[in-house]
Amino acid sequence: MKKIFFGFGSAFLLALACTIPALAGGWAVITLDEFPSAVHASQSLEIGFMIRQHGVTPLSGQRPIITASLAESNDTIEFFAREEGQAGHYAAEISLPQAGEWEWSIAAFTVKQPMPPLTVLNAVPAASKPVSSSFNSLPLFAAGFGLLGVLGGLLALQRKVRWAAALVLAGFLVSGAGFASAADQPTAESEAQEIVVISAESQAELGRDLFIAKGCMLCHSHAETDNLREFGVDMGPNLTSYSASPEFLRLWLKDPLTVKSTAQMPTLGLSDSEIEALIAFINSD
Ligand code: HEC
Repeated sequence: MKKIFFGFGSAFLLALACTIPALAGGWAVITLDEFPSAVHASQSLEIGFMIRQHGVTPLSGQRPIITASLAESNDTIEFFAREEGQAGHYAAEISLPQAGEWEWSIAAFTVKQPMPPLTVLNAVPAASKPVSSSFNSLPLFAAGFGLLGVLGGLLALQRKVRWAAALVLAGFLVSGAGFASAADQPTAESEAQEIVVISAESQAELGRDLFIAKGCMLCHSHAETDNLREFGVDMGPNLTSYSASPEFLRLWLKDPLTVKSTAQMPTLGLSDSEIEALIAFINSD
């Protein structure tokens, strides 16, 4: 009987020892690979992100859950993320069924990190899909027909038929016109190209979204993001009225350790364009 009690007791102690570290000081920063843009309803979307314990150490073995709900609705949808790629990296395939403003967050480890709201556009109508099939083959057909005329004319010339020269000439004209109008047709690719101009203001807004999505707001207070966060550690300075030269910030955000050998801020793998948007946000007043 004694033995059994002893067994229970040590199992209990062991369980306690395992849970205490998770309760004390267990927090993580989620950093989205990329903030999705131009999302359409029912479109499948790959969401990738890193989880770093204490903002630093890649954390494996988690079962993150993405929760999304349409603003002013109580229905929520959940998606499970799987571990994929390097240690601490996860990915999930999600699809939001309706157009509108979606609120969403990622829960993993001990944190539930809200993400910047996602604007979902109406589903892409089938008719406005790329137009490769509507390429008109008639001009090419005419061009080929014209070439046949030229050939026929040349054969006729050899036999000294009277209308041979006229046939050659007509063949050339038809074929030339056919090729010219075939070359004139817009291709699917040139039509699909769009130029997106980003204004300084929207650059700062994008920077704010990234400040949330990359997890900066967990370690840094900022008046514009504090209302969103459910949990923060304020390990770094409050950045509300902070500003610095873009040259310094470019280096700092790319890799803090190259600027300061004792930096505690992690390298978050930001792209150059993400860094520019973050600088616009940090330096806006
Ligand atoms: C894990 C916590 C953590 C995360 C996440 C984090 N930082 Fe920091 N940050 C710090 C700490 C700590 C410092 C203070 C300097 C140091 O010792 O690293 C700092 C310093 C800074 C500074 C001031 C640099 C200076 O010396 O003037 C800026 C600007 C900054 N962070 C921006 C960001 C941005 C933007 C993000 C998100 C892309 C971010 N931080 C994410 C912890 C963090």
